Amino acid sequence: MTTPHVVVVGSGIAGLTAAHHAAAAGARVTLVTKASLAESNTRYAQGGVAAVMFDDDRVADHVRDTLMAGAGLGDPAAVRVLASEGPARIRELVAAGVAFDRTADGAFVRGLEAAHSYPRVLHAGGDATGAVIEAGLIARLRTDGVEIVEGALLTELLTDGGRCVGVELLVAGALRTVRADAVVLATGGAGQLYAHTTNPAVATGDGIAAALRAGAEVADLEFVQFHPTVLAAGDAFLVSEAMRGEGAVLRDARGHRFMVDVHPDAELAPRDVVARAIVTAMAAQDGRPVLLDATGLRATPAATADFLAERFPTIDAAVRARGLDWAREPIPVTPAAHYLMGGVVTDLDGRTSIPGLFAAGEVARTGVHGANRLASNSLLEGAVFGARAGRAAASAPASAPAPGLPVREGSQHAAPAADASRVATPRAPMRRAELQQLMWECAGVERDAAGLAHAARVLDGRAMPEPTDAAAREDANLLVVARAVVAAALARTESVGAHFRRDAAASSTTPEIHAVSPLENASGR
Ligand code: SIN
Repeated sequence: MTTPHVVVVGSGIAGLTAAHHAAAAGARVTLVTKASLAESNTRYAQGGVAAVMFDDDRVADHVRDTLMAGAGLGDPAAVRVLASEGPARIRELVAAGVAFDRTADGAFVRGLEAAHSYPRVLHAGGDATGAVIEAGLIARLRTDGVEIVEGALLTELLTDGGRCVGVELLVAGALRTVRADAVVLATGGAGQLYAHTTNPAVATGDGIAAALRAGAEVADLEFVQFHPTVLAAGDAFLVSEAMRGEGAVLRDARGHRFMVDVHPDAELAPRDVVARAIVTAMAAQDGRPVLLDATGLRATPAATADFLAERFPTIDAAVRARGLDWAREPIPVTPAAHYLMGGVVTDLDGRTSIPGLFAAGEVARTGVHGANRLASNSLLEGAVFGARAGRAAASAPASAPAPGLPVREGSQHAAPAADASRVATPRAPMRRAELQQLMWECAGVERDAAGLAHAARVLDGRAMPEPTDAAAREDANLLVVARAVVAAALARTESVGAHFRRDAAASSTTPEIHAVSPLENASGR
């Protein structure tokens, strides 16, 4: 029997987990990633990973919290898989050397974050959870016999007879194809669609764009989560929700704690509620940021300073590097794009609508997040569905040894041919900063039909950037994904979860899932 070859694209928790499980299931595995192995959204995750790890917590409660945060649009079967398989994946992380923070008697420290009915968030290194997990999984991968290719940007998914048969990559300026029996997309999200984001520079939606071009089904792209509290001093820097879980409060410029007027859970209301309340408060004070007040977390400023430095060392360093003493005074914060709930539609084993193509992590739409992701469920999703996708990919039928796919030269996929046929006059390519500002203004925390229609006109009126280099290809991917996000946001005329339409009432019935047809809306223009 031929050993199947699985290519995993992406090196966050979902990709590293998928690669490990595919290798453990007997596949030959190649993991490709466009930057260095350690660079991904996972690395920057602070708050932690939610899982039912304590005797007095229940899977049913984690399921309920997740579905409620998702505003009724989550898929209960997927959420049950997430919550029930989560503990096994956490134990596996521990076995891989991930040292979650523990109390003096050896129990896991329990963190609380918004919309959780129970403190079930584990963290590591205080607020360096993602970095600690990433390091542990990379160390494990190095003993798995997986071939690792860094600096390889996914340019296309290769299909043959409707099946995914490999990937095309840009490596050191040259296009290369890699044949595979199965491909697992784990390329993460697309925070770089927005002018303000918590995401690193690599989050340019490459996997979603390639999947759209290949004709895979995507859904829920209108659901973009905006993190409420990003430091509004110097470069954007995430200030974990775990801060509010520890008791920090939000104040407007007058010092008023406005969240108590908005939601019974105040600062621990679901993220979309807090982000919108901040936008409203900022509008009432000429756009100035609101304030996150951690000064009261301990009895004295000195004790607070010690607590902040120990519990949140990464944030503490970033805050103090900006000249702020947050033990003594509140710090300015604003919302920023954080997480894409939608993505490439998968079943419970990561299978997409294209045979041979799997997806896991933020690039995927597994159905666990619905309209709004519950805090700290993303690392868990990457671990649970990365494992499932890796195992399923390893059992994809091995193809007969192929004479090799023709190596495609040039750019026929990154600059779709339809571009030329649809317009009579040359159109200006879209600059990234312009796209990001447009998306922030027209498809941001709040949207309406007029703004979205304007965004659609502008985006549709621009040409795909010529694929001269990796950055231009990322720009093209952002344009593809931006068009799809805007189309999805226009199609959903009610407000639900993170998708807030100023011009519509909140949905009173269970909303429908809107799949975006890749061919009509995004890929070919
Ligand atoms: C945070 O630490 O606030 C982010 C955690 C998450 O996005 O789940």
